[in-house]
Amino acid sequence: MTQSYFSEERSVETVNDRMGADVTPRMAEVMRCLVKHLHGFAKEIHLTQAEWETGIAFLTRTGQMCDGNRQEFILLSDVLGLSMLVDAINNRRPEGATENTVFGPFHVEDAPIRAMGDTISLDGKGEPCLFEGRVTDLDGNPVEGACVDVWSDNADGYYDVQQPGIQPRWNNRGRFFTGADGAYAFRGIKPTSYPIPDDGPVGKMLALMGRHPYRPAHMHFLVTAPGFQRLVTHTFVGDDRYLDSDAVFGVKQTLVAPFERTTQGDVSWRSVFDFVLTPA
Ligand code: BEZ
Ligand code: FE
Repeated sequence: MTQSYFSEERSVETVNDRMGADVTPRMAEVMRCLVKHLHGFAKEIHLTQAEWETGIAFLTRTGQMCDGNRQEFILLSDVLGLSMLVDAINNRRPEGATENTVFGPFHVEDAPIRAMGDTISLDGKGEPCLFEGRVTDLDGNPVEGACVDVWSDNADGYYDVQQPGIQPRWNNRGRFFTGADGAYAFRGIKPTSYPIPDDGPVGKMLALMGRHPYRPAHMHFLVTAPGFQRLVTHTFVGDDRYLDSDAVFGVKQTLVAPFERTTQGDVSWRSVFDFVLTPA
């Protein structure tokens, strides 16, 4: 029988040997690995008692910050690059398929279904921009009946859900369904960069790490269609100052979209971007 009392040297084995006999294989694998890396972390940095207490207080405050509208733990995962890593591991796609990026906390289910070409901007702020393109499969065939669900911050850098009573409900949100040609088009505003919510423990941690809380300007897209993988992505404005230092590591080269000035019609900007879906 192996030694079951605790020692610094055999800490990992001592804890992991306690695993029950009826634990599911995945649970046992996940917990063994977690204990191994957690103990490895404490040993490698020689975690002091005071630092352990600071860490526990930080996690406590992070939990206390969470409610129906604020998810500070996901924000923590986002700024540590964990959200993007989990997304990458679970969404390896073939060449040519549009890449995923971070979902973020500001999506709202069941946004209004709007007619193709309609505007999502209800507060009259910002520089009008036409977003258009096609939803296709990997061979370039149009995908009919795709739902293009979009959301963005307003010109002041806030989502409608962050400013109830200030912004109109459903400001800068909408769903558009493609027809037989797979085309989508809507009017919005040229996105602006904004800070992620940084008035909580995660914001404080970022400051202590010498990091800013900003995300480069982007438009969110959730594109779904029967028979295809769900695509959670953004398009980014190419000349944004935060493109190389996104607080949540969401930028991918293939998602930097053209935003061009135009004098045609009722908009000042036009951004064309095609979404290529991967079979389910
Ligand atoms: C967003 O783009 O909406 C977002 C993503 C991650 C954290 C905070 C905001
Ligand atoms: Fe966003």
